[in-house]
Amino acid sequence: MKHFVSIAEYSTDTLRHTLDVSARLKKQLRDTGHNTPIFAGKTAALIFEKPSLRTRVSFTQAMNQCGGQAITLTNEEIGLGKREPVKDVARVLSGMCDAIVARTFEHSKILELAKYAEVPVVNALTDYSHPCQAMADLLTVEEHFNKLSGLTMAYIGDGNNVARSLAVACGKFGVRFVCCTPAAYQLPSDDMDRVMAQVPEMDFSTTADPQDAVREADVIYTDTWVSMGQETEKQQRLRDFAGFQINFGLLEIAPKRAVVLHCLPAYRDLEITDDVMEGPQSLVFHQAENRLHFQKGLLAVLLGKA
Ligand code: CP
Ligand code: NVA
Repeated sequence: MKHFVSIAEYSTDTLRHTLDVSARLKKQLRDTGHNTPIFAGKTAALIFEKPSLRTRVSFTQAMNQCGGQAITLTNEEIGLGKREPVKDVARVLSGMCDAIVARTFEHSKILELAKYAEVPVVNALTDYSHPCQAMADLLTVEEHFNKLSGLTMAYIGDGNNVARSLAVACGKFGVRFVCCTPAAYQLPSDDMDRVMAQVPEMDFSTTADPQDAVREADVIYTDTWVSMGQETEKQQRLRDFAGFQINFGLLEIAPKRAVVLHCLPAYRDLEITDDVMEGPQSLVFHQAENRLHFQKGLLAVLLGKA
């Protein structure tokens, strides 16, 4: 694995390895209180064009806890593609750091970083995808159910970056993915056709009926209706997504075993009610913590330490 820009480009075996390493490093931290310093002398550069809590802290702590370090660069400082061409940033950071983790608006910027960098580049979310989130979420689901293959995930909400990465990750691990969105907010069909050609094993279906979507769900997942960069569309979106909320009424239709995930940040009482977030089926804070463990496993694989 050279870069981690998309899930689709890797085999299930390679992805399985990142999950196994993540689980092993998580157990090591739990059992001993620390990790062995496998990243000693290594530095990751973290670039953020958008805000972040989980992604920034999880990559920073993943490096710190394994004896390495992270440098966070905001876009005000480096002006990716504005103050300096993306391909120049890629090569400058390659000369000084061991990995580049970047959150950008345009997906093309991540692709360009990966094209020109001589060190691993990690997609820390773009408008198109959020692969680290989706893989960390599979870690959470597998911990809970002790398996992945044969499960069903119902995603309720916006057909966005998180939905797209989850659909692909689920496809790679035999998890049926039901994508439930208002008709105007589906993942674009031409793009999904292309993704499904790349990942033919995907069991992907769409619906606009949340009740149908959750009837056989093991996992019910949602994300904000208003992603970063879409703030001007907020009022329209709140109208369009009415009826797509995860609430106890919807959970009553789902199997009792169903768990609720949200990548966070959550807007309580919009896409998910406060009581579901705080309720017994919610795994959202385990899910958030697993960002740390997956980031660590991923970096270990990318840096040749696992
Ligand atoms: N889920 C997630 O990526 O959170 P942040 O935007 O806070 O990093
Ligand atoms: N879809 C959201 C995810 C945040 C982690 C966004 O892009 O803002």
